[in-house]
Amino acid sequence: MNTDVFGRVHLGYLVVESEKLSDWARFGRDAIGMHLDDALPDVLRFRLDDNACRFLVQRGPAEDTIALGWEVDDHRCLETIEARVRGHGVAVTQGSSEESALRGVERFVRFPGPNGLTQEVYVSPRSAQTPLRLGTSGFVTGTGGMGHVAIATSKPHQMRGYYSTVFDARLSDYIDETISGLKFKIRFLRVNERHHSVAIASVNRLPVNPIRTRIQHCNVQVAKLDDMTLAYQRVKELGFDMALSIGQHTNDKELSFYAVSPSGFEWEVGWNPIVVDESTWEPRTHAGISIWGHTPEGSTIVQLMERFKTGAHSVLHREATMPALAGAGIADD
Ligand SMILES: [Fe+2]
Repeated sequence: MNTDVFGRVHLGYLVVESEKLSDWARFGRDAIGMHLDDALPDVLRFRLDDNACRFLVQRGPAEDTIALGWEVDDHRCLETIEARVRGHGVAVTQGSSEESALRGVERFVRFPGPNGLTQEVYVSPRSAQTPLRLGTSGFVTGTGGMGHVAIATSKPHQMRGYYSTVFDARLSDYIDETISGLKFKIRFLRVNERHHSVAIASVNRLPVNPIRTRIQHCNVQVAKLDDMTLAYQRVKELGFDMALSIGQHTNDKELSFYAVSPSGFEWEVGWNPIVVDESTWEPRTHAGISIWGHTPEGSTIVQLMERFKTGAHSVLHREATMPALAGAGIADD
């Protein structure tokens, strides 16, 4: 099958594994303002909207995001993706009914993705049975999906090849940035009208992935500017670490801040990103990630050194790239 699935794929949920469930409850509900469903043992589920689950936090040692859930528009779309993955010799398996229930979907399939992130695909989300209780006016989900993730990699061309092969992801733009003398390139990929659902960050010509976690950050989009600034205040008042203060991105123009989640990856709360118009959009390269703000907060020398040590260590490990689904990789335009 050679049907383009662009526009019919939407980031639907994240699966996180953590031992810090009480910290996650405070972070997700009290700081970020999501609906907390803690009715089940050893599991927290956060809602952003009527869907039963947008973040599944299950007890376990990884302290990381372990899977991305992608909602697709219909069974034909799911079959197209499944056939592509199988066609490249990669196994696709069914999630169990218990796993489906936890994720708030009727059923899903899973297959491996680069950087150790399992990819899960489903058609029908379940609506929650209880009224939505948010600590914010609302989250923007819908056609653009629930937000985005950013992934650091030492193999950016292969990772872009993977998301292009599997989901028909399109390049929105690039950002070049220099941090501590290192030149980073970030590739922003979209699978629908949201400017990016996956951002791929890498250090130029250096086979190092400096980030321990499988995603560097996730992003949720709030409905109003006040929702974002009040969440910023709550994160600080509740004593969670802030990574970057409020600022505005150069490419999607989103205003946002970055907190540090209990599992260590960052959590961006954003407002008002642009929506891509396919008829006029042209990829370009932006210099720097921010027009203003996004100033590092609370990064001590010790933390920066720890990050560097993690990066040096990762050279010794081979990063899982899923070459079967990366094609020849995609070199930069
Ligand atoms: Fe982001």
